Amino acid sequence: MAESASSKRVTLRDIARSKRENAKLVVVTAYDVLFARAVDACGVDIVLVGDSVGNVVAGFDSTLRVTLDNMIYHGAAVRRGVKRAFLVVDMPFLSYQASIERAILNCGRVLQETGADAVKIEGGSPQMVETVAALTRTGIPVMAHLGFTPQSVRTLGMRIQGKEPGDGERLAAEAMALEHAGAFSLVLELLPTEVSRQVTAAVTIPTIGIGAGPHCDGQVLVLPDLLGLNEGFAPKFLKRYANLAETTRAAVSRFAAEVRAGEYPDADHSN
Ligand code: KIV
Repeated sequence: MAESASSKRVTLRDIARSKRENAKLVVVTAYDVLFARAVDACGVDIVLVGDSVGNVVAGFDSTLRVTLDNMIYHGAAVRRGVKRAFLVVDMPFLSYQASIERAILNCGRVLQETGADAVKIEGGSPQMVETVAALTRTGIPVMAHLGFTPQSVRTLGMRIQGKEPGDGERLAAEAMALEHAGAFSLVLELLPTEVSRQVTAAVTIPTIGIGAGPHCDGQVLVLPDLLGLNEGFAPKFLKRYANLAETTRAAVSRFAAEVRAGEYPDADHSN
């Protein structure tokens, strides 16, 4: 969809149409205004303020310590940089699981206080399906998330899901239930290629893969991973499109050398 990028804002209808037209959706995460501006200028379709902020910004070993206030702070910052893409904010652990009422109040608060277009929640249990239905009825668009769901890392472990017999059918059934409840798209994380193909074929909403092979209707990467800033993280699915960690080290080393040599600031950089 990004190839026909215009300055018109991406809407839910555009996202739904992309699957009918067989146009791949391009999704990246962002956590601050400067990167948000940069990725929006590339014509990506969806910007996700992921709770991966806990890993790649705060340095935690999981997303579990990310709070609702954290997501609102980062969501509002990204909103100030995104003018065209559809903006989704992840709901953090415990902000939507305890009850449907809390989910509505917290998801509504995220939309109100960040200006985002939608929220994302994890899981395909019957309770989560009911939550998606209640949020959708309230007027809150929901992106769902199946496969490896990082907020369940303590029970699932950090590994590829969907490898047991019957997992493909189970995930396809959960995906259909989430679609029926009103989810407008579905992230599929760390799934075998054939399972994500099966799930993608089972629903009319677009699936967005990360570590789930080429048959999804779109792909998402975590921005610091894509840019080569997160050097310690190297799963098979990850392709680095730049090496910003190296670029950063080179630039800061040069700054340090010039300061120590008394070369910066020179006349051109002094008032
Ligand atoms: O938190 C996040 O960045 C995500 C993506 C990996 C889909 O959920």
